[in-house]
Amino acid sequence: MKGTKTIALLLSATMLAGIFTGCAGKTTKITTDKFINACEKLDLKGFEVDGKKAPDIDDLEEGFYLYADTDAIEEAEDSIDDFLDEIGLDDVFEAENVKSFAFAAKCDGFDLNDLLDRDVLGSTELDGAAAFQMTLDGNYAEDFMAYLEDLLDECGISTDDLSDKEYFVSKNEGYLRYHVEIDKLVEQVVDNDVYDDIYDYLYYFTDGLIDSVEDFSGDAAFSFEINGSNIFFILGLNVNTDETSVLNDFVKAFGATCNPMDVPVNEDISENLIDDYLDDLADQIAPGPDPATPTTPDNSGATKVGISMPTKDLQRWYQDGDNLKKGLESMGYAVDLQYAANDISNQIAQIEGMINSGCDLLIIACIESSSLNDVLEDAKANNIPVIAYDRLIMNSDAVSYYVTFDNYQVGRLQAQYIVDTLQLDNSSGSYNIELMAGDPSDIAAAFFYTGAMDVLMPYIESGKLVVVSGQTSFDECAIDHWKTETAMARAENIISSYYSDGRNIDAWLCPNDSTALGVIQALDARNYSVYWPVVTGQDCDIANIRCMIEGKQTMSVFKETKLLVDETVFWADKILGGFDVTTDSSYNNNAKNVPTFFCTPIVVDINNYRTVLIDPGYYTEDDIF
Ligand code: BGC
Repeated sequence: MKGTKTIALLLSATMLAGIFTGCAGKTTKITTDKFINACEKLDLKGFEVDGKKAPDIDDLEEGFYLYADTDAIEEAEDSIDDFLDEIGLDDVFEAENVKSFAFAAKCDGFDLNDLLDRDVLGSTELDGAAAFQMTLDGNYAEDFMAYLEDLLDECGISTDDLSDKEYFVSKNEGYLRYHVEIDKLVEQVVDNDVYDDIYDYLYYFTDGLIDSVEDFSGDAAFSFEINGSNIFFILGLNVNTDETSVLNDFVKAFGATCNPMDVPVNEDISENLIDDYLDDLADQIAPGPDPATPTTPDNSGATKVGISMPTKDLQRWYQDGDNLKKGLESMGYAVDLQYAANDISNQIAQIEGMINSGCDLLIIACIESSSLNDVLEDAKANNIPVIAYDRLIMNSDAVSYYVTFDNYQVGRLQAQYIVDTLQLDNSSGSYNIELMAGDPSDIAAAFFYTGAMDVLMPYIESGKLVVVSGQTSFDECAIDHWKTETAMARAENIISSYYSDGRNIDAWLCPNDSTALGVIQALDARNYSVYWPVVTGQDCDIANIRCMIEGKQTMSVFKETKLLVDETVFWADKILGGFDVTTDSSYNNNAKNVPTFFCTPIVVDINNYRTVLIDPGYYTEDDIF
C-alpha cells in the first residue's frame, strides 16, 4: 500500500514536472545521419545537391531528399554567404560554419495542374511535409534563437506572449513552433483593409483567384528546433483534407519531439504575419484601376506590340526577338517583330511604321542609344508607351521603362574573374592585360566598361596589371557595332605592335562574345600554343561555349535572356492592362529617370556551363557538340 502510494506520488510529480517545463526533453538532436536514415525509412528518393541532378516537380509526390556535405558546401561557400547575408543570418554564422545540410519533401495528392486551375483550386486535396536539417560547427542556439526573436519582433510578435509549447530558449537549445488554420488565414487576407486597396491588383493577377481560395480549409504548421550544433526544421501542410499522414510519418521517422500540428493554433501570430505581409505587398505595388471594373487585357489580338531588335546576325538578338514574340502571342497579343540589320535609319523607319500601323506598345533594343529621339516623340504624341529592352535609350523622355540586366555588374564580374584567375591578390608578380570595349553608340557598353575598370584600375595603378599597349580609355578600346572582324583587327594590331617579342598576354578583357571571338581569332593566328590568356565574354553564344570547351575562352557572363523576356512580357502586359506600374530602381537617360527592372547576370565557365546551360535545357548537347 505504502509502495503504491509512493509510485503514484512519483508519477504525478514527473507529470507535473512535464507540464511546468512544457514538454520534457524539449528538442532532439537530429543529426545529418539520423536525417538521411529517416529519409531512407520514408523511401524518399535521394538527389545530389551539386545541381547535376535536381529533383523536378513530379518527384515531389513520391518524395525526395537532397544532401550536401562539406565539399559541396565549400564549393558553394560564396553563394551560401550571400544568401545568409540576404536573410540577415550572417550575424549569426557563416558558410564555413555549416558542415552539412539536407532537405526532404513529400506531398500526397499533389497535382500541379490542380493548383494552377482556379476552378478546382478550392477543392484541392493536399497533404504534404518538408524537413530541413543543418549541422553547424559550434553552438549557435542562443544567437539563432535571438535571430528568430528579431524576426518575430519585426512582425509585431513578442516572444513573451508565446506559450512554452511555442517558444523556448536556453544556452544549448531552443525551438519555435507555430500552427495556423488555413481557412482563417485566407479569411484574414480577404477581410483585411489593405487587401481592399490592392484587391484590383490581386484580381488582375489572379483573375478571381481569391474566390476559389476562399473555400480553402486545412492546417499549416512548422517547428524550428536547435539543439547544440543541429538545426532542424519541419513544415507540414494539409489543405481541404483531414489527412496529415505525410507530416505524421515525417515526425515519426525523424524522431522529432513534437508534431507541430499538435501545437495549439495561434491566431495572433497568423494575424500579425498576414498584416505584415499585406503591408509589404501594398508597399510594393501601385493601386490599379477601379476595383468595380477590373481591366483585363484585350486578348483578342487587337492589342498590338511592336518589337524592334537591332540585328538578326547575333544569336542573342535573334533569340530575344523570337522569345518576346512567342511570349506576347501566347498572351493573346498581336506582334510586329522587326530586325533592323544594325542600320540606324532602318530602325527609325521600322519604328515609325509600327507607330503608324497602330501598335499600342513598343519594345526597343536600340542600335544607337541617342538616335531615336524624334521617332519616340511621335510615340509619345500617340500615347504609346516605350520599353527600352536591354539597351537604354538616351536623351528621350518618351522612354517609359527600361528592362535590363545589371550591366555595370556584368563588367565587374568579367574583371573579377580575371583578378581571381590570375590570383592577383596573392601573387607578387605582374601580368599583362589588354582591353576591349563595346560599341560607343550603345550606352550599355559604357556600363560594362566602367564596371570592369572599377575592379581593374587599382591593379593597373599598382603595377600588378600592365596594359602593354597603353590603351586604357574607353575610346581607344571601343569596337564599333561589337563587330568580330573589328575586334580581330584591333587585337592583331596590338599583338604585332606590342607583343612581337613573344611576351605573354595574360588576360584580355572582352565585353561580349562577339568581340571575344575576334580576340580569339587574332590569338589563334598568332599560334599562341604556350600560354593562353584569360579571355572574358558575355552572352554564352554557342560559338563561344565551343571556344570555352577548347580552352580558348575562359568565361562568359550569362544573361538568361529568357528572364529578360519574361520580365518584359510580364510588365508589357501590366502596362497594356492600364496599371500604374512602378519600380524600385531607375536609370537616368539624360532626359528623365527611367523606371528600371533588373535581372541578375551569372558567370559561366568550363566548370558550370553544363549545369547552367545544358541541364536546364537552354542548350542541348546537340546544339554545342
Ligand atoms: C548587349 C550584349 C551584346 C551586345 C552586342 C549589348 O547591348 O547587352 O549582350 O553582346 O549588345 O550585341
